Amino acid sequence: MTQSHPRISKAVIPAAGLGTRFLPATKATPKEMLPVVDKPAIQYVVEEAVSAGLDDVLMVTGRNKRPLEDHFDRNYELESALQKKGDAGRLAKVQESSDLATMHYVRQGDPKGLGHAVLCAAPHVGHEPFAVLLGDDLIDPRDPLLKRMVEVQEQHGGSVIALMEVAPEQIHLYGCAAVDPTADSDVVKVHDLVEKPAAADAPSNYAIIGRYVLDPHIFDILRKTEPGRGGEIQLTDALQQLAADEKVGGPVHGVVFKGRRYDTGDRGDYLRAIVRLACEREDLGPDFRTWLRSYVAEEM
Ligand code: UTP
Repeated sequence: MTQSHPRISKAVIPAAGLGTRFLPATKATPKEMLPVVDKPAIQYVVEEAVSAGLDDVLMVTGRNKRPLEDHFDRNYELESALQKKGDAGRLAKVQESSDLATMHYVRQGDPKGLGHAVLCAAPHVGHEPFAVLLGDDLIDPRDPLLKRMVEVQEQHGGSVIALMEVAPEQIHLYGCAAVDPTADSDVVKVHDLVEKPAAADAPSNYAIIGRYVLDPHIFDILRKTEPGRGGEIQLTDALQQLAADEKVGGPVHGVVFKGRRYDTGDRGDYLRAIVRLACEREDLGPDFRTWLRSYVAEEM
C-alpha cells in the first residue's frame, strides 16, 4: 500500500432517481426503501460501505427523502413500545440501522442524472478519494467487492470502477469498458468507456456496475460535463475523460467482479433477489424452500 494516498473514509450513495420502473410503488416512496425480504435495499448498501471501512455516509436524496432519513434515525416511540413488551430481538433490529454509520444527507433537487447526483457530494467530500455505491445495486455480503476496490485504489491511485462480464445481448443496458489486462487477474486497466452501446459497437463484455472509488478530480470534470444519453449528466462520460487523460486525476482501473449481485431497480432482478435471499435465510429459508419446491412442481 502506498502511504501517499489518503485513506478512503467517505461513501456517497445516490438515491435521488425517480424509480419510474417501479411505479406505482415508488410514487411516494424512494425505490431504495423497497424491502428485500425484511430490510430496505438501502440498508444492505449502507452495511456494505461500513464493512469496507467507510462509516461516513452521504446520501444524495430527492423529493421523497423523508423515509430514507427516518430509517437511519432513532425511532423512540417504537423503541419504547418494544422495550415495554420486552421484545429485545425486534428492538435490536430497530436500533441496528440508526447505529450503523454517521449519516449525512444532501438534496439533489432536480434528478439530472447520476453524474449530477455525484457532483452534489462535492462540498462534503472535499479533496479526498471517495466511494460511490448505487442505492439500488445489491452486492451479496459474502462476495466483498468494495474492500478490494479500496485496496486497488490504494495501490494504483486514481479511480477504480467495478466491472462484471455480461452476455453481448445485455451490454446495451450498461456502461461498457475497453480494458487491458494487468498483473492481477481480477484487475484491468480501463482506457475507454461507452454508455449503453449497441452490442456491435461495444468494446468488450465488461459492464460497469454500481460501485466506484473516485478521485476527487471527477468533480471538476462533472462541472463541465454536458447532458449526454437520455438528457442526463452521465457519470460514465466524466469517467471516460478521467480514463483518457491520466495526467488529470490518475489512471482508471477496473475490478472484475464474479460474485452475486442484484439490480433491485429492475423488477425481475428484484424478485430474484428476494427469492434467493429468503431461501438462504436461516429463519425463513427452510419453510420457504419447501413451499417454493412444491409451487414450482405444480407450475411445471
Ligand atoms: P437509475 O437510472 O437506475 O435510477 O439510477 P432511476 O432513474 O431512479 O430509475 P428508473 O429508470 O426511473 O426506474 C441509478 C442510481 O442513481 C440514482 C438512483 O437513485 C439510483 O440509485 N440517481 C439517478 C440519482 O441519485 N439521481 C439521478 O438524477 C439519477
